[in-house]
Amino acid sequence: MFKNKSKFIKSEKLYLPRNHKLRGQVSIPGDKSISQRALIIGLISNGVTKIENILESEDVFHTLQAIILLGGKVDFKNNTIYINGSGLGNIISPDKPIYMGNSGTGTRLLLGLVAGSDATVTFYGDNSLNKRPMSRVIIPLEKMGAKFIFAKPGRLPLTVIGARKKGITIPINYKIPVVSAQVKSAIIFASLTARGKSKIVEKNRSRNNTEKMLSDCGVDIRTKTQKNKSIVIELEGVSYVNSKKVKVPGDPSTAAFLVVAALITKDSKVTLENIYYDRFRLKVFDVLKKMGAKIKIIKNENKKTCNIRVISSALNNLTIPSNLASYLIDEYPILSIAAACGSGIMTMKGLEELRYKESDRLIAIFQGLKSSGVKTSIKKNTLIIEGMKQIVGGNIILAKDDHRIAMAFNILSLITKKPIFVEGNNSIRTSFPLFFDCLQALGVKIKKR
Ligand code: S3P
Repeated sequence: MFKNKSKFIKSEKLYLPRNHKLRGQVSIPGDKSISQRALIIGLISNGVTKIENILESEDVFHTLQAIILLGGKVDFKNNTIYINGSGLGNIISPDKPIYMGNSGTGTRLLLGLVAGSDATVTFYGDNSLNKRPMSRVIIPLEKMGAKFIFAKPGRLPLTVIGARKKGITIPINYKIPVVSAQVKSAIIFASLTARGKSKIVEKNRSRNNTEKMLSDCGVDIRTKTQKNKSIVIELEGVSYVNSKKVKVPGDPSTAAFLVVAALITKDSKVTLENIYYDRFRLKVFDVLKKMGAKIKIIKNENKKTCNIRVISSALNNLTIPSNLASYLIDEYPILSIAAACGSGIMTMKGLEELRYKESDRLIAIFQGLKSSGVKTSIKKNTLIIEGMKQIVGGNIILAKDDHRIAMAFNILSLITKKPIFVEGNNSIRTSFPLFFDCLQALGVKIKKR
Protein backbone atom coordinates (compact mmCIF):
# COMPACT_ATOMS: atom_id res chain seq x y z
CA MET A 1 0.00 0.00 0.00
CA PHE A 2 1.40 3.41 -0.85
CA LYS A 3 2.56 5.41 2.13
CA ASN A 4 5.05 7.38 0.06
CA LYS A 5 5.91 7.97 -3.57
CA SER A 6 9.10 5.88 -3.68
CA LYS A 7 7.08 2.98 -5.10
CA PHE A 8 6.62 4.71 -8.46
CA ILE A 9 9.27 3.43 -10.88
CA LYS A 10 11.07 5.77 -13.22
CA SER A 11 9.81 5.32 -16.76
CA GLU A 12 11.18 8.46 -18.40
CA LYS A 13 13.46 6.69 -20.90
CA LEU A 14 11.12 3.84 -21.87
CA TYR A 15 9.60 3.52 -25.34
CA LEU A 16 7.57 1.00 -27.30
CA PRO A 17 9.11 -0.35 -30.50
CA ARG A 18 6.96 -1.49 -33.42
CA ASN A 19 5.36 -4.85 -34.20
CA HIS A 20 3.78 -6.27 -31.16
CA LYS A 21 0.69 -8.23 -30.79
CA LEU A 22 -1.03 -7.94 -27.43
CA ARG A 23 -2.24 -11.17 -25.86
CA GLY A 24 -3.57 -12.14 -22.46
CA GLN A 25 -5.48 -10.50 -19.66
CA VAL A 26 -4.89 -7.84 -17.04
CA SER A 27 -6.92 -6.33 -14.25
CA ILE A 28 -7.39 -2.57 -14.63
CA PRO A 29 -6.22 -0.43 -11.66
CA GLY A 30 -8.74 1.58 -9.63
CA ASP A 31 -10.74 4.50 -10.99
CA LYS A 32 -9.07 7.87 -10.30
CA SER A 33 -12.29 9.86 -9.87
CA ILE A 34 -13.74 7.34 -7.40
CA SER A 35 -10.46 6.93 -5.49
CA GLN A 36 -10.13 10.67 -4.89
CA ARG A 37 -13.78 11.07 -3.90
CA ALA A 38 -13.59 8.08 -1.53
CA LEU A 39 -10.79 9.83 0.36
CA ILE A 40 -12.56 13.19 0.50
CA ILE A 41 -15.90 11.69 1.55
CA GLY A 42 -14.01 9.54 4.08
CA LEU A 43 -12.63 12.74 5.63
CA ILE A 44 -16.09 14.27 6.20
CA SER A 45 -17.87 11.04 7.18
CA ASN A 46 -18.76 10.03 10.71
CA GLY A 47 -17.00 6.76 11.49
CA VAL A 48 -14.47 4.68 9.60
CA THR A 49 -14.43 4.47 5.80
CA LYS A 50 -12.82 1.34 4.38
CA ILE A 51 -11.43 1.76 0.85
CA GLU A 52 -10.37 -1.28 -1.16
CA ASN A 53 -8.47 -1.29 -4.46
CA ILE A 54 -7.73 2.44 -4.36
CA LEU A 55 -5.69 3.66 -7.32
CA GLU A 56 -2.08 3.95 -6.19
CA SER A 57 -1.10 6.91 -8.33
CA GLU A 58 0.46 10.30 -7.69
CA ASP A 59 -2.78 12.28 -7.99
CA VAL A 60 -4.47 10.04 -5.45
CA PHE A 61 -1.39 10.20 -3.23
CA HIS A 62 -1.59 14.01 -3.15
CA THR A 63 -5.29 13.93 -2.28
CA LEU A 64 -4.49 11.42 0.47
CA GLN A 65 -1.79 13.72 1.91
CA ALA A 66 -4.27 16.61 1.74
CA ILE A 67 -6.99 14.83 3.68
CA ILE A 68 -4.45 13.89 6.37
CA LEU A 69 -3.46 17.57 6.70
CA LEU A 70 -7.16 18.50 6.89
CA GLY A 71 -7.71 16.18 9.87
CA GLY A 72 -8.36 12.68 8.46
CA LYS A 73 -6.76 9.81 10.41
CA VAL A 74 -5.51 7.19 8.00
CA ASP A 75 -4.48 3.57 8.48
CA PHE A 76 -3.15 1.08 5.93
CA LYS A 77 -3.68 -2.67 6.21
CA ASN A 78 -2.83 -5.04 3.36
CA ASN A 79 -4.44 -3.47 0.30
CA THR A 80 -6.99 -1.46 2.22
CA ILE A 81 -7.07 2.11 3.51
CA TYR A 82 -9.11 3.02 6.58
CA ILE A 83 -10.06 6.64 7.16
CA ASN A 84 -11.31 7.76 10.52
CA GLY A 85 -13.27 10.80 9.37
CA SER A 86 -13.35 14.05 11.28
CA GLY A 87 -16.99 14.59 10.32
CA LEU A 88 -18.54 17.35 8.28
CA GLY A 89 -17.67 20.77 9.72
CA ASN A 90 -14.55 19.60 11.58
CA ILE A 91 -11.95 20.24 8.90
CA ILE A 92 -8.83 21.71 10.45
CA SER A 93 -6.69 24.55 9.07
CA PRO A 94 -3.30 22.99 8.35
CA ASP A 95 -0.23 24.89 9.48
CA LYS A 96 1.36 24.65 6.03
CA PRO A 97 0.20 25.00 2.40
CA ILE A 98 -1.07 21.80 0.77
CA TYR A 99 0.79 20.60 -2.34
CA MET A 100 -1.62 18.98 -4.84
CA GLY A 101 0.94 17.99 -7.50
CA ASN A 102 -0.79 17.65 -10.88
CA SER A 103 -4.28 16.90 -9.54
CA GLY A 104 -6.97 19.22 -10.86
CA THR A 105 -9.73 16.96 -9.53
CA GLY A 106 -8.30 16.74 -6.01
CA THR A 107 -7.75 20.50 -5.88
CA ARG A 108 -11.14 21.62 -7.22
CA LEU A 109 -13.08 19.18 -5.05
CA LEU A 110 -11.15 20.19 -1.93
CA LEU A 111 -11.62 23.90 -2.71
CA GLY A 112 -15.36 23.20 -2.59
CA LEU A 113 -15.10 21.24 0.64
CA VAL A 114 -13.03 23.92 2.40
CA ALA A 115 -15.31 26.67 1.01
CA GLY A 116 -18.16 25.19 3.06
CA SER A 117 -16.07 24.89 6.26
CA ASP A 118 -14.60 27.27 8.84
CA ALA A 119 -11.02 26.42 7.85
CA THR A 120 -8.42 28.48 6.00
CA VAL A 121 -6.27 26.50 3.59
CA THR A 122 -3.62 27.34 1.00
CA PHE A 123 -3.27 25.05 -2.02
CA TYR A 124 -0.56 24.96 -4.68
CA GLY A 125 0.45 22.56 -7.41
CA ASP A 126 3.06 21.70 -10.03
CA ASN A 127 3.73 23.90 -13.08
CA SER A 128 0.79 22.51 -15.01
CA LEU A 129 -1.74 22.74 -12.16
CA ASN A 130 -0.64 26.28 -11.23
CA LYS A 131 -1.58 27.35 -14.76
CA ARG A 132 -5.06 25.78 -14.81
CA PRO A 133 -8.17 27.94 -14.36
CA MET A 134 -9.68 27.90 -10.88
CA SER A 135 -12.11 30.78 -11.46
CA ARG A 136 -14.69 28.22 -12.64
CA VAL A 137 -14.95 27.04 -9.03
CA ILE A 138 -14.04 30.32 -7.31
CA ILE A 139 -17.01 32.23 -8.83
CA PRO A 140 -19.76 29.95 -7.45
CA LEU A 141 -17.92 29.31 -4.17
CA GLU A 142 -17.61 33.07 -3.53
CA LYS A 143 -21.37 33.36 -4.03
CA MET A 144 -21.68 30.77 -1.25
CA GLY A 145 -19.70 32.97 1.15
CA ALA A 146 -16.12 31.67 0.79
CA LYS A 147 -13.23 34.11 0.27
CA PHE A 148 -10.19 33.58 -1.91
CA ILE A 149 -6.77 35.21 -1.85
CA PHE A 150 -4.41 34.75 -4.78
CA ALA A 151 -1.41 36.39 -6.37
CA LYS A 152 -2.51 35.65 -9.97
CA PRO A 153 -6.27 35.97 -10.52
CA GLY A 154 -7.97 32.58 -10.59
CA ARG A 155 -4.74 30.58 -10.36
CA LEU A 156 -2.94 28.55 -7.71
CA PRO A 157 -1.29 29.11 -5.31
CA LEU A 158 -4.37 30.38 -3.54
CA THR A 159 -5.85 30.55 -0.08
CA VAL A 160 -9.49 29.74 0.57
CA ILE A 161 -11.24 31.00 3.70
CA GLY A 162 -14.31 28.87 4.37
CA ALA A 163 -17.74 30.55 4.42
CA ARG A 164 -18.33 29.44 8.01
CA LYS A 165 -15.24 31.24 9.33
CA LYS A 166 -17.27 34.41 9.83
CA GLY A 167 -20.75 33.47 8.70
CA ILE A 168 -22.71 30.65 7.10
CA THR A 169 -22.53 28.69 3.85
CA ILE A 170 -25.12 30.33 1.60
CA PRO A 171 -27.15 27.93 -0.57
CA ILE A 172 -26.72 28.54 -4.28
CA ASN A 173 -28.87 28.44 -7.40
CA TYR A 174 -26.27 28.17 -10.15
CA LYS A 175 -26.09 27.31 -13.81
CA ILE A 176 -22.58 26.04 -14.54
CA PRO A 177 -21.25 27.78 -17.68
CA VAL A 178 -18.99 24.83 -18.62
CA VAL A 179 -19.78 21.13 -18.50
CA SER A 180 -17.51 19.91 -15.71
CA ALA A 181 -17.85 17.22 -13.04
CA GLN A 182 -15.11 18.94 -11.07
CA VAL A 183 -17.02 22.23 -10.87
CA LYS A 184 -20.30 20.47 -10.12
CA SER A 185 -18.63 18.40 -7.38
CA ALA A 186 -16.95 21.44 -5.79
CA ILE A 187 -20.36 23.14 -5.48
CA ILE A 188 -21.97 19.95 -4.14
CA PHE A 189 -19.29 19.58 -1.45
CA ALA A 190 -19.76 23.22 -0.38
CA SER A 191 -23.57 22.81 -0.42
CA LEU A 192 -23.34 20.03 2.19
CA THR A 193 -22.99 22.66 4.93
CA ALA A 194 -25.38 25.25 3.43
CA ARG A 195 -28.41 26.49 5.36
CA GLY A 196 -31.08 25.49 2.86
CA LYS A 197 -31.49 24.00 -0.59
CA SER A 198 -28.93 24.42 -3.40
CA LYS A 199 -29.79 23.94 -7.05
CA ILE A 200 -27.07 23.28 -9.61
CA VAL A 201 -27.81 23.16 -13.35
CA GLU A 202 -25.50 21.51 -15.90
CA LYS A 203 -25.92 22.12 -19.66
CA ASN A 204 -25.07 18.52 -20.39
CA ARG A 205 -24.27 15.38 -18.44
CA SER A 206 -20.89 15.01 -16.73
CA ARG A 207 -19.68 12.05 -14.64
CA ASN A 208 -21.84 11.68 -11.52
CA ASN A 209 -19.57 9.90 -9.03
CA THR A 210 -19.97 12.60 -6.36
CA GLU A 211 -23.77 12.39 -6.46
CA LYS A 212 -23.76 8.57 -6.41
CA MET A 213 -21.20 8.25 -3.63
CA LEU A 214 -22.74 10.90 -1.36
CA SER A 215 -26.14 9.37 -1.92
CA ASP A 216 -24.69 5.99 -0.80
CA CYS A 217 -23.61 7.81 2.38
CA GLY A 218 -27.17 8.91 3.14
CA VAL A 219 -27.16 12.40 1.58
CA ASP A 220 -30.40 13.18 -0.23
CA ILE A 221 -29.34 14.39 -3.70
CA ARG A 222 -31.96 14.58 -6.44
CA THR A 223 -31.06 14.67 -10.13
CA LYS A 224 -33.53 15.48 -12.91
CA THR A 225 -33.03 15.67 -16.66
CA GLN A 226 -34.89 18.60 -18.25
CA LYS A 227 -36.57 18.52 -21.67
CA ASN A 228 -33.64 20.51 -23.12
CA LYS A 229 -31.26 17.76 -21.81
CA SER A 230 -29.84 19.98 -19.06
CA ILE A 231 -29.43 18.32 -15.67
CA VAL A 232 -30.71 19.77 -12.40
CA ILE A 233 -29.17 18.65 -9.11
CA GLU A 234 -30.76 19.62 -5.82
CA LEU A 235 -29.57 19.05 -2.27
CA GLU A 236 -30.03 20.52 1.18
CA GLY A 237 -27.34 21.08 3.75
CA VAL A 238 -26.89 18.10 6.11
CA SER A 239 -25.53 17.67 9.61
CA TYR A 240 -23.59 14.50 8.95
CA VAL A 241 -22.45 12.05 6.27
CA ASN A 242 -22.46 8.31 7.02
CA SER A 243 -19.31 6.31 6.36
CA LYS A 244 -19.61 3.70 3.61
CA LYS A 245 -17.21 1.00 2.48
CA VAL A 246 -15.88 1.67 -1.03
CA LYS A 247 -14.55 -0.98 -3.36
CA VAL A 248 -12.95 1.00 -6.18
CA PRO A 249 -13.62 -0.52 -9.63
CA GLY A 250 -11.09 -0.30 -12.48
CA ASP A 251 -10.84 2.95 -14.42
CA PRO A 252 -12.51 2.88 -17.88
CA SER A 253 -10.31 5.78 -19.06
CA THR A 254 -7.22 3.74 -18.19
CA ALA A 255 -8.65 0.69 -19.96
CA ALA A 256 -9.19 2.78 -23.12
CA PHE A 257 -5.41 3.06 -23.70
CA LEU A 258 -4.98 -0.72 -23.67
CA VAL A 259 -8.13 -1.25 -25.76
CA VAL A 260 -6.81 1.02 -28.53
CA ALA A 261 -3.36 -0.60 -28.29
CA ALA A 262 -5.00 -3.99 -28.99
CA LEU A 263 -7.23 -2.61 -31.76
CA ILE A 264 -4.44 -1.01 -33.84
CA THR A 265 -1.85 -3.81 -33.57
CA LYS A 266 -2.10 -6.99 -35.66
CA ASP A 267 -3.25 -10.33 -34.17
CA SER A 268 -4.06 -8.90 -30.77
CA LYS A 269 -6.57 -10.45 -28.43
CA VAL A 270 -6.86 -9.22 -24.86
CA THR A 271 -9.24 -9.24 -21.94
CA LEU A 272 -9.28 -6.33 -19.50
CA GLU A 273 -10.87 -7.08 -16.17
CA ASN A 274 -12.71 -5.37 -13.32
CA ILE A 275 -13.68 -2.16 -15.15
CA TYR A 276 -16.27 0.23 -13.68
CA TYR A 277 -19.60 -0.58 -15.37
CA ASP A 278 -21.04 2.85 -15.98
CA ARG A 279 -22.68 3.70 -19.32
CA PHE A 280 -21.39 7.28 -19.16
CA ARG A 281 -17.78 6.28 -18.63
CA LEU A 282 -18.00 3.42 -21.15
CA LYS A 283 -19.09 5.75 -23.98
CA VAL A 284 -15.63 5.63 -25.55
CA PHE A 285 -16.14 1.93 -26.28
CA ASP A 286 -19.50 2.64 -27.95
CA VAL A 287 -17.73 5.12 -30.24
CA LEU A 288 -14.95 2.64 -31.03
CA LYS A 289 -17.57 -0.04 -31.75
CA LYS A 290 -19.26 2.35 -34.19
CA MET A 291 -15.86 2.68 -35.87
CA GLY A 292 -15.84 -1.10 -36.36
CA ALA A 293 -13.89 -2.15 -33.28
CA LYS A 294 -14.41 -5.73 -32.15
CA ILE A 295 -15.08 -5.04 -28.50
CA LYS A 296 -17.24 -7.08 -26.19
CA ILE A 297 -18.34 -5.74 -22.83
CA ILE A 298 -19.23 -8.50 -20.38
CA LYS A 299 -20.99 -7.38 -17.22
CA ASN A 300 -19.78 -9.16 -14.08
CA GLU A 301 -22.12 -10.83 -11.61
CA ASN A 302 -21.77 -7.96 -9.13
CA LYS A 303 -23.28 -5.68 -11.86
CA LYS A 304 -20.81 -2.97 -10.86
CA THR A 305 -17.88 -4.01 -13.00
CA CYS A 306 -17.32 -5.54 -16.41
CA ASN A 307 -14.62 -7.25 -18.41
CA ILE A 308 -13.79 -6.03 -21.90
CA ARG A 309 -12.62 -8.36 -24.68
CA VAL A 310 -10.86 -6.75 -27.63
CA ILE A 311 -9.39 -8.08 -30.84
CA SER A 312 -7.45 -6.24 -33.56
CA SER A 313 -9.84 -4.43 -35.87
CA ALA A 314 -9.94 -2.27 -38.98
CA LEU A 315 -11.33 1.10 -37.88
CA ASN A 316 -13.44 3.51 -39.91
CA ASN A 317 -13.38 7.16 -38.96
CA LEU A 318 -16.53 9.16 -38.36
CA THR A 319 -17.84 12.42 -36.92
CA ILE A 320 -18.12 12.72 -33.15
CA PRO A 321 -20.70 15.41 -32.30
CA SER A 322 -20.06 18.03 -29.62
CA ASN A 323 -22.80 16.67 -27.33
CA LEU A 324 -20.52 13.70 -26.62
CA ALA A 325 -17.56 15.88 -25.57
CA SER A 326 -18.21 15.61 -21.82
CA TYR A 327 -18.61 11.82 -22.10
CA LEU A 328 -15.27 11.43 -23.86
CA ILE A 329 -13.37 14.27 -22.24
CA ASP A 330 -10.43 12.13 -21.04
CA GLU A 331 -10.50 9.81 -24.06
CA TYR A 332 -9.83 12.22 -26.94
CA PRO A 333 -6.04 11.73 -26.84
CA ILE A 334 -6.32 7.96 -27.30
CA LEU A 335 -9.32 8.24 -29.65
CA SER A 336 -7.11 10.47 -31.82
CA ILE A 337 -4.55 7.67 -32.03
CA ALA A 338 -7.31 5.25 -33.09
CA ALA A 339 -8.38 7.82 -35.71
CA ALA A 340 -4.83 8.18 -37.06
CA CYS A 341 -4.86 4.42 -37.73
CA GLY A 342 -8.41 4.33 -39.11
CA SER A 343 -9.57 4.87 -42.65
CA GLY A 344 -11.24 8.09 -43.77
CA ILE A 345 -11.61 11.38 -41.95
CA MET A 346 -12.28 11.69 -38.22
CA THR A 347 -14.02 14.89 -37.16
CA MET A 348 -14.23 15.58 -33.43
CA LYS A 349 -16.40 18.54 -32.53
CA GLY A 350 -16.82 20.72 -29.44
CA LEU A 351 -13.36 20.21 -27.94
CA GLU A 352 -12.91 23.56 -26.20
CA GLU A 353 -12.58 22.01 -22.73
CA LEU A 354 -9.53 20.07 -23.94
CA ARG A 355 -7.65 23.37 -23.84
CA TYR A 356 -7.90 23.48 -20.02
CA LYS A 357 -6.60 20.03 -19.14
CA GLU A 358 -3.13 19.10 -17.84
CA SER A 359 -1.88 20.75 -21.05
CA ASP A 360 -3.72 22.37 -23.96
CA ARG A 361 -4.66 18.91 -25.23
CA LEU A 362 -6.19 20.14 -28.45
CA ILE A 363 -2.85 21.65 -29.49
CA ALA A 364 -0.86 18.76 -27.97
CA ILE A 365 -2.79 16.15 -29.99
CA PHE A 366 -2.59 18.24 -33.16
CA GLN A 367 1.17 18.88 -32.86
CA GLY A 368 1.91 15.31 -31.78
CA LEU A 369 0.04 13.77 -34.70
CA LYS A 370 1.55 16.22 -37.16
CA SER A 371 5.11 15.53 -36.02
CA SER A 372 4.37 11.78 -36.24
CA GLY A 373 3.41 12.22 -39.92
CA VAL A 374 -0.40 12.27 -39.64
CA LYS A 375 -2.44 14.84 -41.56
CA THR A 376 -4.50 16.82 -39.09
CA SER A 377 -6.03 20.27 -38.65
CA ILE A 378 -7.95 22.34 -36.11
CA LYS A 379 -10.90 24.54 -37.04
CA LYS A 380 -12.00 26.51 -33.96
CA ASN A 381 -12.76 23.68 -31.50
CA THR A 382 -13.01 20.90 -34.08
CA LEU A 383 -10.15 18.48 -34.63
CA ILE A 384 -9.87 16.77 -38.01
CA ILE A 385 -7.65 13.72 -38.46
CA GLU A 386 -6.95 11.88 -41.70
CA GLY A 387 -6.47 8.16 -41.12
CA MET A 388 -3.22 6.74 -42.54
CA LYS A 389 -2.18 3.26 -43.73
CA GLN A 390 1.38 3.81 -42.61
CA ILE A 391 2.61 6.33 -40.02
CA VAL A 392 6.27 7.33 -40.05
CA GLY A 393 6.96 8.32 -36.42
CA GLY A 394 10.61 8.80 -35.52
CA ASN A 395 9.70 11.97 -33.62
CA ILE A 396 9.83 13.22 -30.05
CA ILE A 397 6.65 14.14 -28.18
CA LEU A 398 6.91 16.76 -25.45
CA ALA A 399 4.32 15.61 -22.92
CA LYS A 400 6.01 16.95 -19.82
CA ASP A 401 3.03 17.38 -17.51
CA ASP A 402 0.31 15.47 -19.35
CA HIS A 403 -0.08 11.77 -18.63
CA ARG A 404 -2.75 11.15 -21.26
CA ILE A 405 -0.72 12.73 -24.06
CA ALA A 406 2.30 10.68 -22.95
CA MET A 407 0.34 7.40 -22.91
CA ALA A 408 -1.44 8.09 -26.21
CA PHE A 409 1.78 8.67 -28.16
CA ASN A 410 3.55 5.70 -26.57
CA ILE A 411 0.68 3.59 -27.91
CA LEU A 412 1.00 5.14 -31.38
CA SER A 413 4.66 4.07 -31.33
CA LEU A 414 3.49 0.42 -31.41
CA ILE A 415 2.61 0.79 -35.10
CA THR A 416 4.85 3.58 -36.48
CA LYS A 417 7.71 2.79 -38.86
CA LYS A 418 10.22 4.36 -36.49
CA PRO A 419 9.67 4.57 -32.72
CA ILE A 420 8.27 7.66 -31.05
CA PHE A 421 10.12 8.90 -27.97
CA VAL A 422 8.04 10.58 -25.32
CA GLU A 423 9.57 13.23 -23.07
CA GLY A 424 7.36 13.17 -20.01
CA ASN A 425 6.73 9.49 -19.34
CA ASN A 426 7.08 10.21 -15.62
CA SER A 427 3.79 12.13 -15.79
CA ILE A 428 2.04 8.78 -16.37
CA ARG A 429 2.46 8.12 -12.63
CA THR A 430 -0.33 10.62 -11.94
CA SER A 431 -3.02 8.25 -13.22
CA PHE A 432 -1.63 4.88 -14.40
CA PRO A 433 1.75 4.04 -12.82
CA LEU A 434 1.38 0.45 -14.05
CA PHE A 435 1.01 1.53 -17.71
CA PHE A 436 4.26 -0.07 -18.90
CA ASP A 437 3.83 -3.06 -16.54
CA CYS A 438 0.35 -3.81 -17.95
CA LEU A 439 1.61 -3.55 -21.53
CA GLN A 440 4.49 -5.86 -20.65
CA ALA A 441 2.05 -8.34 -19.08
CA LEU A 442 0.18 -8.32 -22.42
CA GLY A 443 3.37 -9.26 -24.25
CA VAL A 444 4.67 -5.87 -25.38
CA LYS A 445 8.46 -5.61 -25.31
CA ILE A 446 9.57 -2.37 -23.78
CA LYS A 447 12.86 -0.72 -24.65
CA LYS A 448 14.99 1.89 -22.96
CA ARG A 449 16.67 4.64 -24.95
C1 S3P B 1 -12.96 14.45 -13.43
C2 S3P B 1 -13.65 15.24 -14.28
C3 S3P B 1 -13.21 15.60 -15.63
C4 S3P B 1 -12.01 14.76 -16.08
C5 S3P B 1 -11.02 14.53 -14.99
C6 S3P B 1 -11.68 13.84 -13.81
C7 S3P B 1 -13.52 14.16 -12.11
O1 S3P B 1 -12.87 16.96 -15.63
O2 S3P B 1 -11.39 15.38 -17.18
O3 S3P B 1 -9.95 13.73 -15.45
O4 S3P B 1 -13.08 13.22 -11.45
O5 S3P B 1 -14.43 14.90 -11.69
P1 S3P B 1 -14.00 18.08 -15.94
O6 S3P B 1 -15.26 17.55 -15.42
O7 S3P B 1 -13.57 19.32 -15.23
O8 S3P B 1 -14.01 18.23 -17.42
